[in-house]
Parts: sequence; structure tokens; C-alpha cells
Amino acid sequence: MDKQLLIYTANALVAGSKGLLAMDESTGTCNKRFAALGILQTEEYRRDWRELIATTPGLGKYISGAILYDETIHQKKKDGTLIVNAIINDGIIPGIKVDIGAKAMAGFPGEKITEGLDGLRERLNEYYKMGARFAKWRAVIAIGNGIPTRACIEANANALARYASLCQEAGMVPVVEPEVLMDGDHDLKRCFDITEHVLLTVFDQLYRQKVLLEGMLLKPNMVIPGLQCFEQASVDEVAEATIQCLLQSVPAAVGGIAFLSGGQSGKMASAHLNAMHVWHATKIPWPLTFSFGRAIQQPAMSIWRGAESNRHEAQQALYHRVKCDDAARRGEYTAAMEQG
Ligand code: G3H
Repeated sequence: MDKQLLIYTANALVAGSKGLLAMDESTGTCNKRFAALGILQTEEYRRDWRELIATTPGLGKYISGAILYDETIHQKKKDGTLIVNAIINDGIIPGIKVDIGAKAMAGFPGEKITEGLDGLRERLNEYYKMGARFAKWRAVIAIGNGIPTRACIEANANALARYASLCQEAGMVPVVEPEVLMDGDHDLKRCFDITEHVLLTVFDQLYRQKVLLEGMLLKPNMVIPGLQCFEQASVDEVAEATIQCLLQSVPAAVGGIAFLSGGQSGKMASAHLNAMHVWHATKIPWPLTFSFGRAIQQPAMSIWRGAESNRHEAQQALYHRVKCDDAARRGEYTAAMEQG
């Protein structure tokens, strides 16, 4: 394991006030989002969308790393050059989603286990040759009646740790993403308790499998009440609960923490990240940033809707969101930034 390379890459991904851009939706997920906006669900439209993102002028000012999907890392722009090269030329480190999705867990109705370990060593070596210097693996934990079970949490934590150690062997920084979903009517406290349990289990597994904490990033959910919970939390309550939960479960040696947005709106995700920095900056031992997918892409996709004539305006919307997230990381995001 090249520890120096891993630490160098991890530090570069969380440097300054930049963050990560997740543009790694699987074909199925990307198509679902396209369908909701009336965009044709073809490889060509997916290529056009990813090209639009990758060529957004100035993206590299606020984005340190972009997580790609397998289809995208092989795709070329309309001019015949690789999309991944546009990203690299903007000073952005390419990353790659390497899990092959969360599948129904046998014997555990309503729960999922993420697959993709078979052949992962070989796939990582290929992606490294193509320029990827970090990877992502997402585990999904649902909250509901009697779930999550320990079996589900432990199986997913084990897979995350095995993935992480293979990544480090290949010289790629693992982004470890155990996502506790926002769906459900659970309250803030339940999300806190489950997230804490999940993170403690994940770090136990990472320790057992000798993962270098300084050479990895954690991509957790924020601690938020379920979408159907009648008692929603304020921005400051979410920030406080999230920081408290992370302090109780994440070792200080971890290279950095980059949140997923999990279905929050762009504005809400920026506001939560901002509040963490405004109120808790002195307590946080790790660089704390963003790795948003929908919270960055969705406003721009709603403008684009597959039309070339909307391209410029969509890129402006994307640029605006990453600028807001960068400001949030400095605790300088304000509602006024959303005007005009
Ligand atoms: O795996 C999920 C993505 O990397 C983050 O997406 O910010 O829309 O939750 P999200």
C-alpha cells in the first residue's frame, strides 16, 4: 500500500473549501431522473448531461473531485475527447463508483446489501489506468419497523471495509458511504441512534481490515428526521445532531468527511453544511465538506431538460450550487446568495 499517495490524494480531495461532485448515478437511477423531467433515456442524452456537467466553466474552482459512473469514464464528448479528460484538465480528480448496486438482502425483507466485490481488484486496476484516483461504494440502510437489523448493518459494514482495503491496495482513496436513508416517519433521535450504530460498526470493520484512516474519506448522511416525520428539525438542530453523532463515532484520524445530500434540496444541504461550520468549527477534527449528487445537479437538470438551448443556463445553475456549497464549507453561505 502506497500510504503517501493515499494521504496525498485524500488531502487534495478535501483541500481548501472545495468539495466533491457526485455524478455517478447508475444507468437506472439516471434514467429515472430523466424520465421525471421528460428527458429521453438514452446513452446519448446521458452523455450530453455528463458532458454539460464536466464542461461547466470554472467548475474546478469549487470542486476537487468528481465521482463518475462506469459508462461515463468510457464516454467521449461530442468533439471526440474523453469526458474524464475535461475533468482532469479543470484540475479535478476523477473518481469512480465501483459498487454494482444495493440488492435485496436474502432473508431480510426491506433491507439491502451492496454488491460488487467479485473482480473488484481487477476493475480497480483498470480504473486507475484510466485516471481514477479515488472510488466510491454506497451501502444503504433503511429505517422502519424492526429495521435496520444488525445482520444488515454488519454485512454492509464488512463489504465497505473489504472494498476500502482493495482500493488502498490499488492506490485509490476509498470513499466509504454508509447511507442511512431519509425515507420514513422516524424522528431526529432515531436517525441519530441508527447513524451512530452504523458508523461505529463500519469503523470497527475498517479497523479489523487494516484500512488506513488517513487515506480514506467518509461519506455519511446528515442526521435528519425522516421525510414523513411530523416533527421536522431546524437547520441548527440538524447541524448540532450531525456533529455530535460524528464526534461520537468517527476517529479523528479519518482523512475527511464529505456528506451526501440524500434527497435534500440544494439550498437545504448548503444551509446544513454552513451551520455545522458556523457553530461547530472549533470542535471538528476532520475537514468537513460536501459530496452532493442531487443537491448539486437537480436544479440544473430541471433547467436543461435535454435541450441544447438550455445548456448555458443549466451550467450557470450548477456553478451557482457548487459556489454556495463552497461558501457553506467556510461558514459564509447566506440566503442572500440564492437571490438573483
Ligand atoms: O451515492 C450517492 C451519491 O454519491 C450522492 O447522491 O447527494 O443525491 O444523495 P445524493
